[in-house]
Amino acid sequence: MKTVLVTGGCGFIGSNFVRLLHQRGEHRVINLDKLTYAGNLENLSEVEEGKRYRFVKGDIGEQALLDRLLNEEKPWAIVNFAAESHVDRSILDASPFLQTNIAGVQTLLEAIRKQPVERFLQISTDEVYGDKEGKEPSSEDSLLCPSSPYAATKAAADLLCLSYRRTYGTPVVITRSSNNYGPYQFPEKLIPLLICNALNELELPVYGDGRQIRDWLYVEDNCRAILAVLERGEIGSIYNIGTGEERNNMAVVHAVCAAIAERRGVELVKLQQHIRSVIDRPGHDRRYAINTSKIRADGWQPRVDFAVGLKRTVDWYIEHLDWISHVTSGEYRKYYDAVYRETWGKEQRV
Ligand code: NAD
Ligand code: DAU
Repeated sequence: MKTVLVTGGCGFIGSNFVRLLHQRGEHRVINLDKLTYAGNLENLSEVEEGKRYRFVKGDIGEQALLDRLLNEEKPWAIVNFAAESHVDRSILDASPFLQTNIAGVQTLLEAIRKQPVERFLQISTDEVYGDKEGKEPSSEDSLLCPSSPYAATKAAADLLCLSYRRTYGTPVVITRSSNNYGPYQFPEKLIPLLICNALNELELPVYGDGRQIRDWLYVEDNCRAILAVLERGEIGSIYNIGTGEERNNMAVVHAVCAAIAERRGVELVKLQQHIRSVIDRPGHDRRYAINTSKIRADGWQPRVDFAVGLKRTVDWYIEHLDWISHVTSGEYRKYYDAVYRETWGKEQRV
């Protein structure tokens, strides 16, 4: 049984990936997570500690901890999900992003120079390519042009990984996916924020004109792609992952309202009345678009279309109201006010 060290496995995509590995039953999974505001043990409550799963609380930036863990567990591979992941938080304060997303990745790379693994999979993002408005979709060798502090730290990490590959022969592979959505996503990102607010009859905030375009990928489809790259990806290679379907934010807001109205049997217009245009995100990228032919040539393709994925997601949040109330207490309120009330919160009715 191969051991995989997953970092950031208590977050959104990481916990979905740990669950996928656990269901497959072919790996022992070590989950190293610092449990920041975004990390939640509840996300993996059904995965029991034992021969096939071990949780370790800790920071990817702690060299001594990594040395000890690699020595004890001798993992076959590392999959690094650990990151500060929200653009708006990086605009409020970029420091933790530099710490985890750059220095943390360098610490991991140093650890495996001393105690090699067969694969180091860095989970990156299509945001490293920057705004693609009026441009061709990015392929894996397109120029990196990050707009936000978050995206800049992810681009820096990718470059560090590739430099370690060339300089020290570190066996790195990189995935760059589009926007994920699905169960267990922290309600600071657009789709879970809209669902949680709609369920509580709160405002549905749309930055600027709402015509920004994203490619929404159901999280389980991304996790299957990540597993394929972990097992078969070429060392030193980068893989874009996305559906290729473009949707603007206003269309997403209306789709969320429709899904909730149907599930709850409430009038659609009642939910739509809460839609508010709010001050735009500074430096906001208008469009992300990636070319995914490389991963598709390996046989991967998305299975869950947006309407089905959104319905499953809405159902999951409605069935997990306790989870919502746990993650939206305390620090969340301060964050919400900083973005929507103090910094960008001047309401502009359209
Ligand atoms: P998330 O914010 O939900 O989870 C991040 C996890 O990392 C949390 O469990 C947190 O506790 C942990 N963590 C943070 N700092 C750490 C540290 N220093 N040491 C150990 N653990 C730490 O993030 P997510 O949305 O699941 O994203 C996971 C990865 O995927 C990130 O690298 C992100 O950049 C990338 N990504 C996300 C998306 C998306 O749409 N969410 C899309 C493309 C790429
Ligand atoms: O593209 C991949 C990236 O997708 C990941 O690397 C990031 O970790 C992830 O956070 C996500 O970044 P975005 O900034 O695209 O996602 P977010 O959900 O924050 O926003 C999606 C779009 O919705 C974006 O155009 C901003 C807009 N938005 C967002 C929020 C939170 C709103 O209009 N209102 C909101 O309240």
